[in-house]
Amino acid sequence: MPTPANPGLSSLANKRVVLGVCGGIAAYKAVEVARRLVDAGAHVAPIMTNAAHRFIGETTLSALCSEPVQKSLWDETSPIPHTKLGQGADLIVVAPATARLLGSYAAGISNDLLTATLLATAAPVVVCPAMHTEMWEHPAVQENLATLARRGVTVVDAEPGRLAGGDIGHGRLAAPATIVAEVERCLGPNDLAGMQVIVSAGGTQEAIDPVRVITNRSTGKQGYALAAAAYARGAQVTLVSTVDQPAHPGVEVVRVESAADMQAAIMPLAAAAHVIIMAAAVADFRPASVAENKIKKGDGIDAIALQRTHDFLVDLGAQKPAHQTLVGFAAETQDLEANARGKLERKKLDLIVANDVSMDGAGFAHDTNQVVILSENNRVVVPMANKRVISDAVLDAVVQQRASIASSVNDR
Ligand code: CTP
Repeated sequence: MPTPANPGLSSLANKRVVLGVCGGIAAYKAVEVARRLVDAGAHVAPIMTNAAHRFIGETTLSALCSEPVQKSLWDETSPIPHTKLGQGADLIVVAPATARLLGSYAAGISNDLLTATLLATAAPVVVCPAMHTEMWEHPAVQENLATLARRGVTVVDAEPGRLAGGDIGHGRLAAPATIVAEVERCLGPNDLAGMQVIVSAGGTQEAIDPVRVITNRSTGKQGYALAAAAYARGAQVTLVSTVDQPAHPGVEVVRVESAADMQAAIMPLAAAAHVIIMAAAVADFRPASVAENKIKKGDGIDAIALQRTHDFLVDLGAQKPAHQTLVGFAAETQDLEANARGKLERKKLDLIVANDVSMDGAGFAHDTNQVVILSENNRVVVPMANKRVISDAVLDAVVQQRASIASSVNDR
C-alpha cells in the first residue's frame, strides 16, 4: 500500500470507498474527489454510469483511482459485480448524484450497476446532488432527498453558484474538499458526535497604531488541525481564529484580531460548549494605548508602554460547567512539564498540551509537533508527528477524560 500523500486524514486510510459518478456537467469534479480520497490513503473503486461517460473519460478515473472503472452489471468477469462492490465497501459516495440516480435509489429501483450496488450495501452512503436549479427545487427531488436522509444516507447539499450554461442558482455540486470532509466524518469514530467544540487558533495581534501590531510567531496550524480533527469525529466546531485562512469544510470560523476580541468572541459561547481548546498564542501584553494615527518618528516617542492583557483562560477555568472539558496549551522553551503543570493547576484546566517550541520541527509554523498531554493524574507523550495526528491524540485524551467524568458521575 503506497504512503498516503495526506496522512492527516486518518479515518480514510486503508478504507475501501466506492465512488459512483453520474452523468452531469459536475462529473469533472469527481476526478478531484477521487484524487483527494486516494491521497488520504483510501482504496477507491470507481463506478461510472452510461451518461457519466458523456462527460468525463473513463481512463482519467481509472488512472487516478485504485482500480479500473466498473460500469455495467453484465460485462464484468464477475457475474455479480454489484454485490461484490456493495459488500466490500466501507462507504459509497455518489458525486455527482443526478435527479435520476436519487429517484431510483429512493424508490429502490436498480437499473444499472451503481443503483444495484447502492441497494446491495450495508455500508454508509453519501450522496452529493448536482443539477439545474429548477430540477433541484422540484418537489420530487426534494422528497427523494428527504427520504434518503431519513434512511440514514448523508446528503451533501448542492450549493448556490454558477451552473452549466452560465446560469447562476442553487444546484452546484459541493466542493470536492467538502465532499471528502463529509466522507471522512462518516468514516470517523464519531466519538464527539453532538458536542459543541470551540478551538482558538493563531497569534493575537495587538494594535500599536493603524499600521502596526505586536504579535507572535504562531501561524494557527495546530488550531486549524484540531478543528478539522474535531469535525471529522462528529463535533460541531467553532474556530476562533486570528488567521485569515479558510478553515476545514463544515467548521464555523469567527475571525478576531486581539486578545480582547478573542475573549469577546469566546466567552458568550463558552457555557454551552462541551470542549474548549485554547490553542491560540494569546498575547500577554498590549500597548497601553492605541494611537489614532500612524506614529511618526518625529512625534518624539522613545518607547511604547505596554500593559497586561486579561488571561481569560483563567476565567474559563473558574466558571467551567461540569459538562465541559477545558484544554490549554503551553508553548515553552524551558522546564516544559513543570511550567505546563503549573498552568494546568493555576488555570483549573482538565488537560494541558505542552510543547517545546525551541525544538526542531515542533511548534510555531511547522507542519509537525511533539507534545506531552498532561492531566491531573496522567501524562501522555506524543512523539513528533503531523499536526493532524497530534490533534487526534489531544482529542483521544479529551474523549478519555470525558469518559472518566461520566463513569465517576455514574458511580455516585
Ligand atoms: N491564554 C489566555 N489568555 C491570555 C494568555 C494565555 O487565554 N491572556 C491561554 C493560552 O491560549 C494558552 C494558555 O493560556 O492555552 C497558556 O498560555 P501561555 O502564554 O503559555 O501562558 P501564560 O499563563 O501567559 O504564562 P507565561 O506567558 O508566563 O508562560
